[in-house]
Amino acid sequence: MDSRSYQDHFFKKAKTSGYRSRSAFKLIELNSKFKFLKNSIKLLDVGSFPGGWSQVAAKTIKNGKILSIDKKKIEEIKDVKFIMGDFLEKKSKTSIIEYFNSNIDVILSDMASNTTGNKSLDCIRTNQLCLDILDFSKQTLSTKGVVVSKLFMGEDFEEIKIRAKKYFKKIDFFKPNSSRDESRETYIHCSGLST
Ligand SMILES: C[S@@+](CC[C@H](N)C(=O)[O-])C[C@H]1O[C@@H](n2cnc3c(N)ncnc32)[C@H](O)[C@@H]1O
Repeated sequence: MDSRSYQDHFFKKAKTSGYRSRSAFKLIELNSKFKFLKNSIKLLDVGSFPGGWSQVAAKTIKNGKILSIDKKKIEEIKDVKFIMGDFLEKKSKTSIIEYFNSNIDVILSDMASNTTGNKSLDCIRTNQLCLDILDFSKQTLSTKGVVVSKLFMGEDFEEIKIRAKKYFKKIDFFKPNSSRDESRETYIHCSGLST
């Protein structure tokens, strides 16, 4: 299947299965590989608009606590609390910490900065978001917690790897089949928080 048909395939699949985005399938694949969506967990979904990942999380997790945040408002999802805001702002982080009131089990980030047309700049900006997620996770994740974050292969990749290795005992990179081949997008999965 060429890249365009592949995209169409996941777009149609999203429509028929009721997911708001093709991205939903990336989370399904990530979870099939790493198995982090479990019942009764506290999960944070950062950069959640339009809500595909939150839909998958709500469908998979029973008796959990799910918080999703984005700069853009999402339509309501049952069993998901939404905060509209910029994750980089201190007040958003304070709201997240207050909402959970204890450590978080799973932090997901599919954040991507707005595309500028300059691939190198887009890559740097998105990877800075990933670094910010790692720093936030270091402070808020439970000892057995897991972080999954989008990043772009390219500039700042080494910095992400170094920081992740400093904070976590185990790190893996995984590119889901539903992520377009030509895209530099990939995901980092980190577990085993170093104390
Ligand atoms: C690829 S989309 C996420 C798709 C989503 N995972 C889904 O399944 O529907 C990336 C999102 O990251 C959000 N984003 C980028 N920077 C952000 C920031 N600083 N704070 C909050 N959201 C941000 C964008 O608004 C955009 O909606």
